[in-house]
Amino acid sequence: MPRTAIIGTGHWVPERVVTNDDLTELMDTSDEWIRERTGIRERRWVEPGTTGAEMATRASRMALEDAGIAAEEVDAVVLATLSPDHFFPGTGVFLARELGLGTAPAIDLRAQCSGFVYGLQVADALIRTEQYRTILLVGVEIQSTGLDVSTEGRDMAVLFGDGAGAALLRATDDPTRGVLSTHIHAEGEHAEILWGDAPASWRHPRIGPDDFDERRVYPSMAGREVFKHAVTRMPEVVREALDANGLEPSEIDLLIPHQANLRISQMVQKRLRLSDEQVFNNIEKYGNTTAATIPIALSEAVRLGRLERGDLLCLTAFGSGFTWGSALLRW
Ligand code: ACO
Repeated sequence: MPRTAIIGTGHWVPERVVTNDDLTELMDTSDEWIRERTGIRERRWVEPGTTGAEMATRASRMALEDAGIAAEEVDAVVLATLSPDHFFPGTGVFLARELGLGTAPAIDLRAQCSGFVYGLQVADALIRTEQYRTILLVGVEIQSTGLDVSTEGRDMAVLFGDGAGAALLRATDDPTRGVLSTHIHAEGEHAEILWGDAPASWRHPRIGPDDFDERRVYPSMAGREVFKHAVTRMPEVVREALDANGLEPSEIDLLIPHQANLRISQMVQKRLRLSDEQVFNNIEKYGNTTAATIPIALSEAVRLGRLERGDLLCLTAFGSGFTWGSALLRW
């Protein structure tokens, strides 16, 4: 059975930098409050009119170039986002169209912050069936257009950013590299702790003035509850992955945690007893880009020389649903 190797990575973030100080002009907040609680210094927000499909295309082209392969070699797209360009169809078909992928299938995944890790499990399974050889896995998010940037929405608005990251996955017979295992979970009893209620298909119409008045169109979160579950589930699912492979935390060369909040990543690091060199964080520049944080961080880590052939790479995510997961790979 073949294994799944990452043969190229790429990312794209909007040019518009929004600093914490910029936010103080929109809402009652401060650079100090945001930095102390989240580690975020700035984030990127799209200019009006930029689509998720465009962002995903830019990240994907970078990954294709990195892998040194042509778009026509991509057999399937797996795209994760909680902020699709349209209610339907999913952003994946627009990306496939932009890249000229012909009739290659496009699978859209809705697992929020865990989308990239969920997508990796799906893509890895598809590759191991030998039905597909090369899969483009993308996480893309436009959060800024869905935020309430007044003081009322400040608890959420300061956290999120926009961006896209991509990885090209290809079947390999090389036993020294590739995905070792993926582990994903969900627990729907906590769905409303972190969610975006509207638009909602069970209401008619799906969206109306009440949804704005009653704030259902904005994401909402019980922050402390999310924090508590995230710092429990991420170390737990990393240990699940390590145990499945007979490995120890000390053997991880690089952990890329979902960039939700620097304090969450630091707690995960501490609970796994990892050194600073073993953990990659870039949230201070981008905020939380949800499904895109891990592929953006991976692409940056590669370019910063943080990964060498044979390194043990661990990815872990936690997010709305709740959903969470981990993946272990030999680079
Ligand atoms: N600027 C200034 N003050 C603020 C802001 C802000 N942006 N947001 C909230 N406050 C105020 C609150 O109104 C409150 O004021 P009060 O005491 O007068 O009522 C005070 O700050 C404390 O608010 P809390 O919500 O209790 O703040 P907390 O210390 O819990 O920090 C935070 C909030 C950072 C969101 C924290 O709960 C957290 O880290 N949660 C983890 C969730 C997270 O990071 N989610 C990211 C998305 S989910 C994911 O990706 C997994």
